Amino acid sequence: MPDVMGSIRARAAALQKAVGLPEVGDPRTIIAARRALDEGLARPVLVGPLDQMAAAASECSTSLDGIACIDPAEDSVRRRCAELFYQLRKDKGVTEDAAWEQVLDPLYCAACLLKLGDLDATVAGAANSTAAVLRPLLQIVKCAPGISTVSSSFIMETPQKHMGVDGVFLFADAGVMPNPTAEQLADIAITTAESARLYMETEPLVAMLSFSTAGSAEHPDVDKVRTATRLAQEKAPDVVIEGEMQVDAALVPEVALTKLPGSRIRGKANVLIFPDLDAGNIAYKIVQRLCNAGAYGPLVQGLARTGLDLSRGATPDDIYNVIAVAALRAEYCNNPV
Ligand SMILES: CC(C)(COP(=O)(O)OP(=O)(O)OC[C@H]1O[C@@H](n2cnc3c(N)ncnc32)[C@H](O)[C@@H]1OP(=O)(O)O)[C@@H](O)C(=O)NCCC(=O)NCCS
Repeated sequence: MPDVMGSIRARAAALQKAVGLPEVGDPRTIIAARRALDEGLARPVLVGPLDQMAAAASECSTSLDGIACIDPAEDSVRRRCAELFYQLRKDKGVTEDAAWEQVLDPLYCAACLLKLGDLDATVAGAANSTAAVLRPLLQIVKCAPGISTVSSSFIMETPQKHMGVDGVFLFADAGVMPNPTAEQLADIAITTAESARLYMETEPLVAMLSFSTAGSAEHPDVDKVRTATRLAQEKAPDVVIEGEMQVDAALVPEVALTKLPGSRIRGKANVLIFPDLDAGNIAYKIVQRLCNAGAYGPLVQGLARTGLDLSRGATPDDIYNVIAVAALRAEYCNNPV
């Protein structure tokens, strides 16, 4: 099996990106930041109340020496973030006073610093829900140009070396978008193809999954996947995107030959796009548990600048790995400030 995460870590270390970590009261964050700095993975930046950082550092007996720290309450930080947040959200009813208060929240402060270019990326979610992590990013950083849907992908490292890229796949969306429309599903396919190029260093072969293969069944859900496939192909003509197809036609060359004779993927898909969040989330967990596969994610994609989410069960090692992914995405997927 190729060491995808090892390659991502090595490429990230060469970039020395500033990665903001706004969950400073969580010792796992402090341990990961320490390791990221000591091992030269990135330049971690703790964003939050200084007393919380100190307490968490003391709880895990970890030194903060040399780690950059930003307090959202510090006057110049608060002023710049509040002004930005007010300008971006005044049309949504946010007042100057409300913005002044809102940016004290480290997740909001970090999203503002990301937008302003002080940070290259942010990583949070060990102590906050996906919704809480994503909301400030959606409100402040917003979508990448040409993309209207933020979603997420999982890097799946399976023991099935004859499938995907030596057993490695991207699955999407398994973490963000509950019921995508055809347009949103097309965006998910395109952003995941871009993520596959970045993480797996390979040409994406994208399968748009359904319970139907090439018209074998008729249903509005099948129509949605078929429309999404057409839209994605029109929007990204340089990427191999095919559908609708069942997962066996995506993964098994013999089945593809029978069910999809004209396929360019030929049963060698390395990117699986699920029709909705139920299917994606259930599929990644089944593969993780039944195949003993590595599952890294949800790795947020489609934002104009990089903000990544963590599982609340994340270990310091998981956070360290996601810092590496964030640094890499920041180099290749960030819009200029
Ligand atoms: C992503 C999520 C947090 C968005 O929640 P929401 O309640 O729609 O958020 P808000 O209404 O505050 O939206 C904020 C802004 O982002 C936009 N937005 C919401 N979801 C978006 C998406 N996926 N892509 C792009 N923009 C999005 C909204 O339109 C809104 O824009 P505006 O305020 O500028 O008009 C929500 O879809 C969610 O919780 N998803 C499931 C995540 C989850 O629980 N995963 C668990 C499985 S791992």
